[in-house]
Amino acid sequence: MSEKGHQMYEASLFKDKKLIKTPNLLDLESARKSFSWDKYWQEIETFENGKMNAAHNVIDVHSVGPNRNKVALYFEGDDGKTEKYTFGEMADLSNKFANVLKKLGVRRQDRVFYFLSRSPELYVSFIGTLKVGAIAGTMFPAFGEDALRDRLLDSGAKYLVTEEQLKERVYKVRDQLPELRHIIVVKKGADSSKGEICYETEMEAASSKFTIEKMDPEEYTYMLYTSGTTGKPKGVVHAHGGIVQQYLSSKWVLDLQPDDTYWCTADLGWVTGIVYGLMGPWANGISQVGYGGRFKPEAWYNVIQKYKVTVWYTAPTAIRMLMAAGDEVPKRYDMSSLRYLCSVGEPLNPEGVKWGLKVFGHPFNDTWWQTETGSILITNYPCMPIKFGSMGKLFPGIEGAIVDEEGKPLPQGAEGDLALKPGWPSMMRTIWKNEKRFNEYFRNGWYITGDTATIDKDGYFWYVGRADDVIKTSGERVGPFEVESALVEHPAVAEAGVIGKPDPLRGNIIKAFVMLKPGQKPSDELRETIQTFVKGKLAGHAYPREIEFVDSLPKTRSGKIMRRVLKAKELGLPIGDTSTLERD
Ligand code: WT7
Repeated sequence: MSEKGHQMYEASLFKDKKLIKTPNLLDLESARKSFSWDKYWQEIETFENGKMNAAHNVIDVHSVGPNRNKVALYFEGDDGKTEKYTFGEMADLSNKFANVLKKLGVRRQDRVFYFLSRSPELYVSFIGTLKVGAIAGTMFPAFGEDALRDRLLDSGAKYLVTEEQLKERVYKVRDQLPELRHIIVVKKGADSSKGEICYETEMEAASSKFTIEKMDPEEYTYMLYTSGTTGKPKGVVHAHGGIVQQYLSSKWVLDLQPDDTYWCTADLGWVTGIVYGLMGPWANGISQVGYGGRFKPEAWYNVIQKYKVTVWYTAPTAIRMLMAAGDEVPKRYDMSSLRYLCSVGEPLNPEGVKWGLKVFGHPFNDTWWQTETGSILITNYPCMPIKFGSMGKLFPGIEGAIVDEEGKPLPQGAEGDLALKPGWPSMMRTIWKNEKRFNEYFRNGWYITGDTATIDKDGYFWYVGRADDVIKTSGERVGPFEVESALVEHPAVAEAGVIGKPDPLRGNIIKAFVMLKPGQKPSDELRETIQTFVKGKLAGHAYPREIEFVDSLPKTRSGKIMRRVLKAKELGLPIGDTSTLERD
C-alpha cells in the first residue's frame, strides 16, 4: 500500500472508539518519555535478594487479600459445562500440583511438558510447574506424532502431562524418547500397568501448602517450539523476569481493569494462550474465561453472552470466519457487555477493524508480537486513533526500526526488515540447546523479526510480509521444511517444495509441489492419502490443502529447492534472480 493509501485511513476513529472506561494508559507519548522498566518492577512483588517467581505474581499475590474469592477462571468445556475457580483455589491447586511434581523428584529447570486439551488442569499444572522452578512446555493438542517427538526429544522433557484421548499418539514415539520418565494422565485416564500416574489420585493426596521456589529473574519459566525457514522447530525459552512486561502490556494494551471479564481465544499450546490467556491477565488479578470447545460462531457468541465478556482478544482468521457467518448471527446474542476488542497473529485487514465497529460497536485493535518477543511490542492502544490496516505503534521502552541487509536503519517510509533493539524483559533468552540459532536472529545489534514493514511519519508500523519462507496459515506459524520433511516420508513421494499461497479466509494456505517416485501415478486418491499422512505426522493445520504434482522442482546448484521460484510461478510474478538455479 502506498503512503497515500495509508493517509486515506487516517481519518481519526478515536471518537468512534466508544470507550466506556477511562483507559489505563492515557497518553502514549508521555508514557514513552518517562518510561523505565525499574519503575514498573515496583508493581511486581519479589522476594529477598532480587529473587522472584512469576507464578507468585500470577496467582499467589491475589490469593491473599481481597481477590482470594474473586473468580480467576470461568471454564466452559466442550459439553457446555461450566466450572469456576477463584484465585484462592488456583493457588491451592497449583500448590498441590507442585507437591505432586516434588514427590516425583522434579528438579529446578527440569522440563515438564503438556499434551493436553484446554482444561482447568492445564492452567493449574502449568502454574504448579513454575512454582517448583521447572520449565513448562505446552504442545498444541492437534499435534501429530512427529511434531510431538521433535519437541519432547529436543527439550529432553522428563515429565509429560496428557490425557486419555491424546496419550496413544505419545506411545507411538515413546521408544524414541529416552529422557521421558513420567507420564501423568488427567481425567482418570491413567493405566497403572503402564506406569502412568493418575493426576486426580496424586492431587487428592497432595498437600495444598507449598513453599514456592525462589528464582533468579533470568531462570526459565516456559518454552515453546516455533518454526523458521529451515530445520526443525526451535525451542524458544522465556524467563521469570518477563512477568513485568506480561503484566504491563496486559494492563496498557488489553486495558484490563478490575471488573473486566476477559476472554483470550488462543489455545495454551501457543504463546498467545500462555502470555495473554494465562500469565499477563492473572498478574493483573483479572477474571478470565477459558473455552475448551471448538470454533463455531454460535458457540463463541454464546460464550460472550453467557460470561458477559468485556475484553476480547482473538485473531484475524477467526474474525473473517465470523464475518463470513453473517451479521445476523451475533444479533441473536447479547453482545452489549463487550467494551474492547483486540486481534493478533496475522495482518488484520481494514475490513475486519470496521466490521467490529459495525457489529459490536467497537473496532478490533491490532497487536503485533511473536513467540520470541514474549509480549506485545507494536500495537494500538485505547488512547490512540486507529489507522485502518496499521499494526500501531511501539510499546513504551521499546526501540524499533526498519533496517537493511547490513542492519542499518532506513529512512522513514522505506520498506525493509522489521528490527527491534534487544533487551526488553519478556524477550526470549535463548533457543534451547542451540545458541547458534539464537545468534542468527541478530544483525548489527538489532533483533531481526523475520517480518518486513514500513513506518510512517507518525510512527505507525505497517506490515508488508514475511522476509523468510515461514507460512502463516489461520494465524498459525508453519515452517515449510517441516511440511516438506513429512511429505517425503510418504512412500510415494520423491521430493516436495512447500509455499504459502494467499487465501482470503486463512491468510495463506499451505501449497505443496510434489514430485512422485518413478512408477507412482498422480491421482486425487493419492493426493488425499498424502494429505492425511501429513496431518497425522504434524498437525491438522499444517497439512497442504493444495497439492500439485510436478515432474521436477526448481533447485539451486547445491540441490536446495527454490521456494521463491515456486511462489513466483504460483502467483504469476516475475521469477527474479535465477542465477543459482540448476540447469540441465
Ligand atoms: C508472526 C509471529 C505472538 C502472537 C501470535 C503469533 C505474524 C503477528 C501480526 C500482526 C501481521 C502478524 C508475523 C510475526 N504476526 N501479529 N498484528 N500483523 N502479522 O506468534 O506464531 O510466533 O508468529 O506472526 O509474521 O512474525 P508467532
